[in-house]
Amino acid sequence: MDLAIETNNLKKYFGDIHAVDGIDLQIPRGSLFGVLGPHGAGKTTTLRMLSTILHPTSGEAAVLGFDIKKDAREIKKRIGVCPQELVLYPRLSARENIHLIAQMHGMAKKDYKERTDELLGKMNLLDRASSLVKGYSGGMKRRINVLMAVIHEPELLFFDEPTAGLDPQSRRVVWDFIRDFQEKESTIILTTHSMEEADDLSDELIIIDHGKIISQGTPDELKGKLGEGDILEFKIKEMEQRDEIIELAKTLDFVRWGKPVGKHRIVLNALDGLRRVSEIMDVVKVKMEDISVRKNTLEDVFIDLTGRRLRD
Ligand SMILES: Nc1ncnc2c1ncn2[C@@H]1O[C@H](COP(=O)(O)OP(=O)(O)OP(=O)(O)O)[C@@H](O)[C@H]1O
Ligand SMILES: [Mg+2]
Repeated sequence: MDLAIETNNLKKYFGDIHAVDGIDLQIPRGSLFGVLGPHGAGKTTTLRMLSTILHPTSGEAAVLGFDIKKDAREIKKRIGVCPQELVLYPRLSARENIHLIAQMHGMAKKDYKERTDELLGKMNLLDRASSLVKGYSGGMKRRINVLMAVIHEPELLFFDEPTAGLDPQSRRVVWDFIRDFQEKESTIILTTHSMEEADDLSDELIIIDHGKIISQGTPDELKGKLGEGDILEFKIKEMEQRDEIIELAKTLDFVRWGKPVGKHRIVLNALDGLRRVSEIMDVVKVKMEDISVRKNTLEDVFIDLTGRRLRD
């Protein structure tokens, strides 16, 4: 298999903090690979090592066939990075910001001029392209940051939470843009703590927590591991009773598993749960403050593995 990225027991420690704690990855070329995890899971640290900004504490990694420790220059030429923190020149226009990056990559004007405007158009930014970036909204700045990562047509792209803080409409624009980009045979590594984003975009993903991979597969494979049932989420007041409530619910043969989540919630997986909520209520006999029913999501996969929510 032709791999864009291969890592072997990759680690990064900051003193006592095990930010990345032994990651093994094999990412085929041409795929859109998601890295899903809560705050502090080690997503940015992993990306920073792979994009040769940060030296690993131990372990190996090859990016596009080059060693991250020995061949950083070769890697830097071939990748694009959209960092989590915005990096822009506020006193330049959107167009000038992108031109500047193109020049830094040594591109000829004829190669970047039209392409810049084409990219701005795809992000719905063309009509404002000549005004100074400092007057832009946060969402517009983030969209420009994405374009600055792709202007030189990199073989491999790292997007670190590209839609963080975006409104739903801009988020769609960025998602469409990313999909479109991948169709041109680029490999994309995308981190997110949004389960919708990971589900919608990834061909394959890892879920990481405390610097370790806790699950890997396609979105359907991961959700499939939870079985066929629906997810029922209850909010309750009497949390001291939660284990008892879960045990009572599990006496019903269609309730497959149950877990406490956070301080006031219980999540149950139940076959045909949507229609059988009342049967569960009959058995557990406790006052619910709120009930929601949904299909399995990647968040439920995370809850199943850790007992926590992605945003806790
Ligand atoms: N330069 C650093 N010095 C010390 N600790 C660090 C440094 N960079 C990251 N960490 C710690 O390493 C852990 C992983 O951080 P990282 O930024 O990789 O997480 P993340 O998954 O990207 O989180 P987020 O979703 O908030 O961006 C955290 O505990 C963080 O505080
Ligand atoms: Mg991060």
